[in-house]
Amino acid sequence: MGGLILDSARSLAGGQAVTPGKAWFENDRFGMFIHFGLYSLGARHEWLQHREEIAPDLYAKYFENFDPDLYDPREWARRAREAGMKYVVLTAKHHEGFCLWDSKFTDYKATNTPYGKDLLKPYVEAFRAEGLKVGFYYSLIDWHHPQFPIDGIHPLRNHPDALEMNKSRDVRHYAQYMRDQVTELLTEFGDISVIWFDFSYPKREYRGMPGKGRLDWESEELIGLVRKLQPDIIVGDRLDLPTDGNFPKDLATPEQYTPRIAPTANGKPVRWEVCHTFSGSWGYHRDEQSWKDAPQLINILIDAVSLGGNLLMNVGPTARGAFDKRAITALETYGEWLRLNGRAIYGAGPSSFVAPSGTRFTQRGNRLYVHVQNWPFRHIHIEGLGGKVKYAQLLHDASEIHWLDPEAEVDSNIGVAVGHNILTLELPVLKPDVVVPVVELILKD
Ligand code: GLC
Repeated sequence: MGGLILDSARSLAGGQAVTPGKAWFENDRFGMFIHFGLYSLGARHEWLQHREEIAPDLYAKYFENFDPDLYDPREWARRAREAGMKYVVLTAKHHEGFCLWDSKFTDYKATNTPYGKDLLKPYVEAFRAEGLKVGFYYSLIDWHHPQFPIDGIHPLRNHPDALEMNKSRDVRHYAQYMRDQVTELLTEFGDISVIWFDFSYPKREYRGMPGKGRLDWESEELIGLVRKLQPDIIVGDRLDLPTDGNFPKDLATPEQYTPRIAPTANGKPVRWEVCHTFSGSWGYHRDEQSWKDAPQLINILIDAVSLGGNLLMNVGPTARGAFDKRAITALETYGEWLRLNGRAIYGAGPSSFVAPSGTRFTQRGNRLYVHVQNWPFRHIHIEGLGGKVKYAQLLHDASEIHWLDPEAEVDSNIGVAVGHNILTLELPVLKPDVVVPVVELILKD
């Protein structure tokens, strides 16, 4: 077996100190992202205020009509658990600045809307009750706060008086506001496992208005506060902090693409999580047609885990606070697949064997999982595995799979594929009725 196992601790051992309080992350592999806010009423992308340049007084119509009467976080949590998700991250505040909890530092919060109640406490309790770890997303950007200087992504960026208005805005007050709110989030809701800050854009200058980064957010102070309040929390990497400073990258967060190789920081392995949407936007989007199909959903998860990463998959609930039918179907796709194939995901990570084309490998101890993303005709040939396999089966139904092992026998009818050190799996001609079938190989010790 020598050198094959890449368990969660060792996959980070290259450079990062392995913190026991964070080890759950590489074991759990799959989480739910939830984007919920005033933009859910607009139902046409969570950036609608930016895209349509909606001034705060007009955007107020969503605040005045925010009433998620079907909000039942126990239902969200149950669906997340049944989908096989093990942790959750909810937008406590998104770029629009609206807060889902009863923050002392703003009036722009759920308790002042027709709904009239805090959404965050019930969320935290409901997900914990289903056994999921709980996280918060907190936007660094804030299009509502009066001290947040207008910049190139702000809805007022093209206002004729933008530069003039900025004279009375002081980002230092805003940085303090963030620390006050983050203190609330990390002291009033118990143990929080993840905090996801979003995002920095120091180089995006627009019409004489600079972008924003660590000097504006006072990122070092902010992360210092986070570390002090919740030492084991995993912190997203969008604070624009130098990775070689006092705060090494805790969580790399590639977004809406599949990395070709695992992300690194300073040439060393780093904890990472890719985030994706079901249909393109993060907030509920009524008219979007680009929903991913079942193989895409499952392959996104497999691709991440095979490279040592997690998947944070997003749901955008409707403005009534419910999951839309299409989201439920997608969640069920995950649930069904993971019920039978979870063994190849949870606690699994990359393998040092090289997966042949059309497949991905994950590995946990002496179990090597061949995710057959592209079902071939009868055979898969795997280099480097000749003589190493003790038993093979399809994972979803534990049905035996035969193989040709050149160290034991050579079958000239198989032709070029049989060579020294190559294992040839014999698959049924018909692809089993599983979105992505997985072959479990039990390796010799
Ligand atoms: C982007 C978007 C945002 C979304 C986030 C999730 O940074 O600004 O709308 O919340 O990605 O990764």
